[in-house]
Amino acid sequence: MTDHVIYTNEITKIYQMGEVEVRALNGVSITVNRGEMVAIMGPSGSGKSTLMNILGCLDRPTGGEYFLDGERVSELSDDQLADIRNRKVGFIFQSFNLLSRATAIANVELPLRYAGYKTGRTEKARAALETVGLGHRIHHKPYELSGGQQQRVAIARALVNDPAIIMADEPTGNLDSKSGKEIMELLLNLNREKGATVIIVTHDPAIGDQTQRIIRVKDGLIVENQ
Ligand SMILES: Nc1ncnc2c1ncn2[C@@H]1O[C@H](COP(=O)(O)OP(=O)(O)OP(=O)(O)O)[C@@H](O)[C@H]1O
Ligand SMILES: [Mg+2]
Repeated sequence: MTDHVIYTNEITKIYQMGEVEVRALNGVSITVNRGEMVAIMGPSGSGKSTLMNILGCLDRPTGGEYFLDGERVSELSDDQLADIRNRKVGFIFQSFNLLSRATAIANVELPLRYAGYKTGRTEKARAALETVGLGHRIHHKPYELSGGQQQRVAIARALVNDPAIIMADEPTGNLDSKSGKEIMELLLNLNREKGATVIIVTHDPAIGDQTQRIIRVKDGLIVENQ
């Protein structure tokens, strides 16, 4: 394959609700190149999270093709999908989704455990926390950290595996504007300085303005891609 980290061809997603079909994606074709930072924007209910879930291998399309990092993932089994997700995708969510009783470093080590690393986990997790400026907070639990710091832990967790792609769904949505700006700076730096490929779902035009490209979704279709 080429240097596309993401390539989709006419992806559809239909949710079956009893007798009723909900067509959440109606044929979405996109490519994302290695090292790009892209925003996905669009009104509520337009299909952004559905698209993210498919791109992040949390769910499968009903139709169409999807290649992630050169691997065809549209027709994998649940186990294969989980495996590729663990190896290739780092997630950042609006609500952080940290394990509340685990320390920062234990949270960051988790993807390494899932990916089967036997040694070197602590060192890698510590380095990831240093990258996000939390080298001095590695033994703190989530409730001992501010919201912005919790999101930094989540970012460290997302990048510790060196994934092909980092996906963030409204990562600043639960933060005050100052912390939100800092988190955005961090993601921009990861992209510019470490070459991370980042997809960010956002309602915030100020965030969209900072990315290289905005993909606009409406009614399950791409309406703009530039
Ligand atoms: N699990 C599901 N079962 C049935 N319908 C669903 C499911 N998830 C989403 N939908 C429907 O699919 C459409 C797209 O939903 P999606 O969550 O992708 O929107 P969104 O763009 O992320 O919206 P928001 O900005 O509010 O987060 C909506 O009409 C929604 O009602
Ligand atoms: Mg959503």
